[in-house]
Amino acid sequence: MAELGQIGRRPTGGMQRLAWTEEEFAAKTFLTGRLEALGLAPELDEAANVWADLGQGEGPALVIGSHLDTVPEGGRYDGALGVMAALEVVRLLVESGRPLRRRVRLCAFTDEEGARFGTGLFGSTALAGDADMDHLAAVTDRQGVSLSEAMAARGKHLERLPDAPRRLVDAAAYLELHIEQGPRLERMGRDVGLVTTITGIHQVRYRFLGEANHAGTTAIGDRRDALLPAAQTALAVRRAVEGADGRAVATVGYLDALPGAANVVPGEARMAVEVRSPDSALMDEIHREIAAEAREAAGGRVEVRIDEGHLAHPADMDRLWRERLRAQATAIGEEAVDLVSWAGHDAGALARVLPAAMVFVPSHDGVSHAPTEFTAPERYRAGLTVFARTVCQWAWGLGA
Ligand code: HGY
Ligand code: MN
Ligand code: MN
Repeated sequence: MAELGQIGRRPTGGMQRLAWTEEEFAAKTFLTGRLEALGLAPELDEAANVWADLGQGEGPALVIGSHLDTVPEGGRYDGALGVMAALEVVRLLVESGRPLRRRVRLCAFTDEEGARFGTGLFGSTALAGDADMDHLAAVTDRQGVSLSEAMAARGKHLERLPDAPRRLVDAAAYLELHIEQGPRLERMGRDVGLVTTITGIHQVRYRFLGEANHAGTTAIGDRRDALLPAAQTALAVRRAVEGADGRAVATVGYLDALPGAANVVPGEARMAVEVRSPDSALMDEIHREIAAEAREAAGGRVEVRIDEGHLAHPADMDRLWRERLRAQATAIGEEAVDLVSWAGHDAGALARVLPAAMVFVPSHDGVSHAPTEFTAPERYRAGLTVFARTVCQWAWGLGA
């Protein structure tokens, strides 16, 4: 964790390993180096997910892992702790010298966050065979770099993505350890959470097109200021979820006014609106309400364009594997807490094609996606042990 925490570290102390960047690939190289040192033969698939296989034989493999990318100025634990936990279990299995009865497969996913291209769960969605190729072929980052260009710069080709699902044909299930990213476990004084459902996430991009003009010589009444309706829409986003009684959340993660100078009336404004809920219908209803408010705010003076972004459906975690995790928690004297995840995870994308389950460990003060994201070793040790025991039980063919 300490070494990985240096890769993509910013002067602020935050982490930045955005998709398809040097930093994300340096983290992949760090991981493959560790796996090779254990005598394994790691490889990258069409989505640049990092894979390493443990064990022989015909039977299906248990896939374990998480993601190595981060949000801008993110934390050291989100995704990273899950990948290092999987590496630790692989190391434990190799060093135990005990023969494996069943196969285990480590996977570190590409671009779980989607912070650069709006393509969250990229690597896991590709594996599940749900990649929207038309959408992916059209996306660019905020500097105008296309996803296919960024992939090609790393030796990967977007058009090969549909080959990725073959990696899961012989997978039995997927297990992931992750920080909770919220305050509930810490407030309850508990160290082990088991995920029941992962929230749905629906991101939409808004473009307000007005007319750039001189800030001095353009009368107020003559302005087609694109920022105003964008600002009103941002307020409408908050209003739309205030009545949802905690059944949904919504966020405006950025709002760009263009061309972006103090003495120029903004001719364009761009913003991302994200709505989350375990209830898909509620998510859709809130997006409809926001879109209606945006159009009304724009009136006839400013054009509104709404582009679909990242959509992850709510995903139920597998009950059988959750009970296996709970049994290991009980075995070490921990009472595990069932939790809905308001963060998205690769487990959510994979749950569509195979049984998936997650272990949560506490997040200090519930902070995440920020440099101050922290979980002390003594707080994640129990969850790590539950995760490790469950994987070892599978690998050594113990229990059901
Ligand atoms: O956005 C999320 O929920 C996750 O951290 N990717
Ligand atoms: Mn994560
Ligand atoms: Mn995250």
